[in-house]
Amino acid sequence: MLNWRRLLRVSNRSFFAFIFLFSLSTSCLYFIYVSPGIANTYYFMVQAQGIMLRDNVRTFGHMIRLYTNKNGTLNGTDYPDGSNSSEVIAQPIAYLPENFTYAQNLPCPEKLPSMKGHIDVNMTEIPMEKILQRFSRSSDMGPAGHWKPRDCKPRWKVAILIPFRNRHEHLPILFQYLIPLLQNQRLQFAFYVIEQTGSQPFNRAMLFNVGFKEAMKDLDWDCLVFHDVDHIPENDRNYYGCGQMPRHFAAKLDKYMYILPYSEFFGGVSGLTVEQFRKINGFPNAFWGWGGEDDDLWNRVHFAGFNVSRPEGDLGKYKSIPHHHRGEVQFLGRYKLLRYSKERQHLDGLNNLNYTPKITLCSLYKNITVNLHPELAPIPDY
Ligand SMILES: *[C@@H]1O[C@H](CO)[C@@H](O)[C@H](O)[C@H]1NC(C)=O
Ligand SMILES: *[C@@H]1O[C@H](CO)[C@@H](O)[C@H](O)[C@H]1NC(C)=O
Ligand SMILES: *[C@@H]1O[C@H](CO)[C@@H](O)[C@H](O)[C@H]1NC(C)=O
Ligand SMILES: *[C@@H]1O[C@H](CO)[C@@H](O)[C@H](O)[C@H]1NC(C)=O
Ligand SMILES: *[C@@H]1O[C@H](CO)[C@@H](O)[C@H](O)[C@H]1NC(C)=O
Ligand SMILES: *[C@@H]1O[C@H](CO)[C@@H](O)[C@H](O)[C@H]1NC(C)=O
Ligand SMILES: *[C@@H]1O[C@H](CO)[C@@H](O)[C@H](O)[C@H]1NC(C)=O
Repeated sequence: MLNWRRLLRVSNRSFFAFIFLFSLSTSCLYFIYVSPGIANTYYFMVQAQGIMLRDNVRTFGHMIRLYTNKNGTLNGTDYPDGSNSSEVIAQPIAYLPENFTYAQNLPCPEKLPSMKGHIDVNMTEIPMEKILQRFSRSSDMGPAGHWKPRDCKPRWKVAILIPFRNRHEHLPILFQYLIPLLQNQRLQFAFYVIEQTGSQPFNRAMLFNVGFKEAMKDLDWDCLVFHDVDHIPENDRNYYGCGQMPRHFAAKLDKYMYILPYSEFFGGVSGLTVEQFRKINGFPNAFWGWGGEDDDLWNRVHFAGFNVSRPEGDLGKYKSIPHHHRGEVQFLGRYKLLRYSKERQHLDGLNNLNYTPKITLCSLYKNITVNLHPELAPIPDY
């Protein structure tokens, strides 16, 4: 009798468990059925978390390697892909002495005495008028922030492309540090601020493609620097010229504790020669919202047979202006797109892009305003 009752109790319990699980799974299915969008978003978030976790683990490993293997920071040598920092021993880099004399008919050297190294960055907001006063008169700047050295022949003609939306207070802070840096490096340069209007999510990559096409109408630039407006260089020996390989300037960001978040990281500030940029068909246009386009660029560069070089040691340090990703949504579809980087490379980029810009000339930059939407860069669905 007693046994029988106990058996009944057990089966009661499992019966309730069954009912509970059944209702849980049906409500899950119902949820996916009624709102596939939210379920999808949730799925991508879980996936993204996984990827972030993996990256962090890699970063952590990198940190341990850094602290156990090697102590000092190296100065002034490059190493490919940023992963092999411990093996390259810096040759003592020779910056030219203060009494170096320039020659107008000779190319400017890359290691000039005017490049002093560390810059103290003060990210307090500063009015644009102050920056204008400081630079547009005193340092023989042409229209749109065009400048070139007078005392030697610039080694590179660099177009600095800055994608932009709603960050007016960041521009003067960037110019405050970037202009002296480029002048100290004796580079010829001008700034292009490419501003996105309209209601679509921010498309950093497409803005770069637009900026490239517009810049090439002005002058025969040979080097392109793709520069986020909120990244301020902390070392003026981080040479903004191009090279044999695409370059990743922003190797150490304060927001990532000055270490590379993952070895394929290519965001913030990067540079390619015009030839390299044409060869990889530019940036992808299909990344709407925040994230992923820099990883796709990394893939493109490698599919085209290039490696990425980075500044060594502390040269690649940057401070990022803190902000909340104001009005910028994350692009959740990026992992799917990244799987097809190779297939998309020659379908999506410089070759499928149409746009109608509105151009105004400001004292320190050319303002290229453009309303972007996906129909401007048609591409088969991936
Ligand atoms: C690392 O640097 C510290 C001082 O900066 C020094 O005391 C220590 O011996 C160094 N360790 C190695 C392994 O070089
Ligand atoms: C890096 O360069 C600076 C300036 O030339 C020098 O003072 C410093 O000792 C160098 N550091 C190393 C580790 O070579
Ligand atoms: C690092 O460079 C050394 C030679 O400088 C090479 O033998 C080694 O394989 C490289 N390691 C990686 C991970 O690329
Ligand atoms: C420049 O300064 C160095 C020492 O810093 C000195 O050895 C050299 O003679 C100077 N050259 C000229 C042309 O004055
Ligand atoms: C930064 O600049 C602001 C104004 O330009 C100044 O008031 C402040 O003292 C500066 N901060 C530092 C740490 O130099
Ligand atoms: C890029 O790096 C890889 C491995 O580090 C090397 O095998 C390859 O030759 C490099 N490519 C170029 C173009 O230098
Ligand atoms: C660029 O020009 C547009 C007008 O065409 C203006 O609304 C916008 O504020 C300008 N942006 C910058 C960064 O100067």
